[in-house]
Amino acid sequence: MPVLVEDPWDVLEYDFPRTGTRSEQLKFLLNYAVLAPSGHNSQPWRFKISGDEVELYADRTRALPVVDPDDRELIMSCGAALLHLRVAMRHFGYKSIVRAFPDFSEPDLLAFIRLGSRHEPSSMDHRLFDAIKERRTNRLPFAQRRVPEPDLQACETAVQDEGAHLHVLRDVHAREALVDLIAEGDRIQGRDKRFRRELAAWIHPNRSKSHDGIPGYAQGVSTVLSYAGPFVIRTFDWGEGRAAHDRQLAQGSPALMILTTRMDNPIAWLEAGQGLARLLLAAQDAGLSASFLNQPIEVPRLRPRVAELIDSTDHPQLILRMGYGKRLRPTPRRPVREVLSTSSFSMMYR
Ligand SMILES: Cc1cc2nc3c(=O)[nH]c(=O)nc-3n(C[C@H](O)[C@H](O)[C@H](O)COP(=O)(O)O)c2cc1C
Repeated sequence: MPVLVEDPWDVLEYDFPRTGTRSEQLKFLLNYAVLAPSGHNSQPWRFKISGDEVELYADRTRALPVVDPDDRELIMSCGAALLHLRVAMRHFGYKSIVRAFPDFSEPDLLAFIRLGSRHEPSSMDHRLFDAIKERRTNRLPFAQRRVPEPDLQACETAVQDEGAHLHVLRDVHAREALVDLIAEGDRIQGRDKRFRRELAAWIHPNRSKSHDGIPGYAQGVSTVLSYAGPFVIRTFDWGEGRAAHDRQLAQGSPALMILTTRMDNPIAWLEAGQGLARLLLAAQDAGLSASFLNQPIEVPRLRPRVAELIDSTDHPQLILRMGYGKRLRPTPRRPVREVLSTSSFSMMYR
């Protein structure tokens, strides 16, 4: 059976090369890493395998300089891929040993991840793994059904396990204030030509053959209308319409939450990304869908106002809505062979 598949969504766990080399096993596990969510589905990661270790690199050629000038969301996206890889390792019975930012002179090298000793996977290890292929970003309205408090608490614990924090807004006034800030963020971003141009470059028609970016169907857009999407996004100031849309979406969401970190640096962003991915997998396991409303964190002058809504000095990193949604089609992914570099050793002797 092939270790790598052309479409990572087609990976089958039965194909895990149990008797293969460590390097073949790691290659196979990367099929799960690349199913992680990423900003604009930019998939800004690269991997190298040497022996029993994977090196995770930030691919800054895929940066989003307008919406994410410091590569904050880019590092979080890589953190999400890292968490997927760890979950896959545990599911197949291996501990994962991670060394984050092993070389400060090389800021693109985010982590070494080693296939550790054998361990007995827990039922949670298996459930998080099963959620990898089911999870989607769901931007459509959710059912009007409360999320049980124990499930919300499980979400908070999932994020905390990775060193970040989740603040579920349980207070009506805080929710309203956040909804106002999201709408304000939409108006500011929709007015900004550079923001629109950058976003339009990553929005694709439903029938596009592209392996990255966001197809129209992921936003609930029909195949015919999806051809006009990039032009409309690039050309018109849609901020007011988007603000009204997101206001309704957020108000109608059973849960609104802010993911935060104590510090605001690449180490914290990598943790936030792992916390996000663990949260989304735990939520998927509980039958919950989620999507992002990060606008007021992405607009620098609104970010401190988001921070005022939480009872801590933490830095807001992401805003999520959560609830019960319909099952959606997956968005495309680049095959692992496209994101796997040959090791520096083999490059020397090529
Ligand atoms: C750090 C990060 C930030 C994101 N920000 C947004 C966002 O502001 N708005 C949005 O609609 N989706 C956002 N997303 C979701 C991505 O667009 C989504 O993960 C990607 O399109 C792949 O689709 P999937 O999650 O369904 O696999 C974000 C994802 C990550 C990891």
